[in-house]
Amino acid sequence: MDLEKAKKELQEKGFLDIDTSSDTDYVAEIKKLKKEKNAVILAHYYQEPEIQDIADFVGDSLQLSYKAAEVDAEMIVFAGVHFMAETAKILNPEKKVVLPDLNAGCSLAESCPANDLQAMKDKYPDHTVITYVNTSAEAKAISDICCTSSNARKIVESVPEDQPILFAPDRNLGAWIKKETGRDMLIWDGACVVHEAFSIDRLIETHKENPKAKIIAHPESPDYILKVSEYVGSTSGMINYVKNNPAKEFIVATEAGILHEMQKEAPDKTFIPAPVEDTSCSCSECPYMKMNTMKKLYLCMKYELPEVNVPEDVRKKALIPIEKMLEISSRK
Ligand code: 13P
Ligand code: SF4
Repeated sequence: MDLEKAKKELQEKGFLDIDTSSDTDYVAEIKKLKKEKNAVILAHYYQEPEIQDIADFVGDSLQLSYKAAEVDAEMIVFAGVHFMAETAKILNPEKKVVLPDLNAGCSLAESCPANDLQAMKDKYPDHTVITYVNTSAEAKAISDICCTSSNARKIVESVPEDQPILFAPDRNLGAWIKKETGRDMLIWDGACVVHEAFSIDRLIETHKENPKAKIIAHPESPDYILKVSEYVGSTSGMINYVKNNPAKEFIVATEAGILHEMQKEAPDKTFIPAPVEDTSCSCSECPYMKMNTMKKLYLCMKYELPEVNVPEDVRKKALIPIEKMLEISSRK
């Protein structure tokens, strides 16, 4: 297939959908392309296990940002969602950044269009604007500092105590940090579809069936889930917790892709995905993260499409709050 045709198809769909032979060995082909193209694959813990296994680096949002900033290879293949690939491009603009499916968005990023955030800023001009990295480059460009779930507390505490904060877009993470720090925070009304899906009644039921299991949760989960959890933390925080905690069973309230790394890190332990309201599913999966497949990963590396770009004026402005976050986050 020629590149022009591939580009046309891509524009229509946001990802390449070219027939590959049924016996294409994606693992072997992707490994070959990594060498040929001098490419590095960065993957989030919520990706399919086979994508995590072929990645050069797997991490949480913060770890992936640090990694993206230091990539030396020519092409960054981001196995994650759009805002993550954008962050990589903002931090490392000389590199080509590709995302297997451009439609891999995020319900949090969607809840916070830059013009609505600007309107809120105009209403509360004295507030320091802290945005979760799960936002568009345009929203970051009008923010003071970014944060992720693993450094949100540190970032909020870095702001002088008498300074009010506007926190966007995750209401659950915001409410949790507000409670933990006691800070004056105005919180945006966005939520993650994956963490909002957990059922407290079914979670209590699951715990009754597995009374020795420790409940652990991501702070994007609603307050009624966090209240019954023994540990609340980012994806990497949860992985470290299960590795180091002597317990043998855990009920895990976050996207089910994380269980792959947990099982690798602690093969002798049992991980039970927290149940959702919908009784037809046994766990919560991110529909955006799961848009990436091995086939799309292979095609995007082969054709170097779809590419993620950020207009230079937006990039320069968005870089400021991201770099501030990385600097504060690395303070002892
Ligand atoms: P972390 O990677 O910061 O734990 O965030 C999870 C998430 O929802 C990413 O989209
Ligand atoms: Fe967004 Fe939630 Fe999916 Fe993360 S898991 S990309 S926060 S919708």
